[in-house]
Amino acid sequence: MPARTSASRAVVVSLGGSVLLTGDDDRAYLERLAELLHRIGAELPLVVTTGGGRTAREYIRLGRELGLTEVELDELGIDVTRLHARLLAARLGPPTPAHPPVTIAQAVHELPGGSPVVLGGTEPGHTTDGVAALLAVRLRAARLVNATDVDGIYDRDPRADPRARRVPRLRWPEFREAVHAAASGEAGQNFLFDRLGADTLARAGIPLLVVAGRDLENLEAAIRGRPFAGSRVE
Ligand code: UTP
Repeated sequence: MPARTSASRAVVVSLGGSVLLTGDDDRAYLERLAELLHRIGAELPLVVTTGGGRTAREYIRLGRELGLTEVELDELGIDVTRLHARLLAARLGPPTPAHPPVTIAQAVHELPGGSPVVLGGTEPGHTTDGVAALLAVRLRAARLVNATDVDGIYDRDPRADPRARRVPRLRWPEFREAVHAAASGEAGQNFLFDRLGADTLARAGIPLLVVAGRDLENLEAAIRGRPFAGSRVE
């Protein structure tokens, strides 16, 4: 196994909840994903945030019907993202910390002894994309890989419009404009990418790579900074 050198820059992966639990052979996917993260995490500092997916949205929908506040709904969402982090961390095993950190500072602190570190959300008001972006800045990461259920960024919603085309390269100003136009800031909302995340990465000049999280070969290429199929924002 190649030794980790001090020259290896960290990589942060934001893994969408919609990728983790789809109902389509999730066990085999999680086994293969864990193997990949374990292998790469031994070679470079790697942090993975896990989203809440449809489970989080289900709780948030029910909580909203019960009259919970937006902050309380965010907190429900955070708990689900942490459940997913616990599942993945437990499958990974050592050196990954068994108890996923609950703050960005804690994740940064654990990384030297525990790559890959896996964690869910932190506080209300953003998503795990935002957590991943803040971590990327704290770690001076080489890139943030957004592993999602779409294979890149499209010029319109590919699920609603067959004319949608994937955009392989974007600049931050146009991407931020699209993210801000799509976002409402409500709990459980599915953005193109988190507003805080886009603003944070743009300001720090850290590239964002968007890939299909279920295509593990391609995900590995993106994490390693090799040519990949998807979209790149810089
Ligand atoms: P996710 O990170 O899963 O957001 O957090 P998402 O956009 O639904 O992403 P996918 O579908 O998993 O890819 C779920 C919800 O949890 C709350 C927000 O309400 C968010 O929409 N949350 C999450 C927070 O308030 N803070 C966090 O740090 C993380």
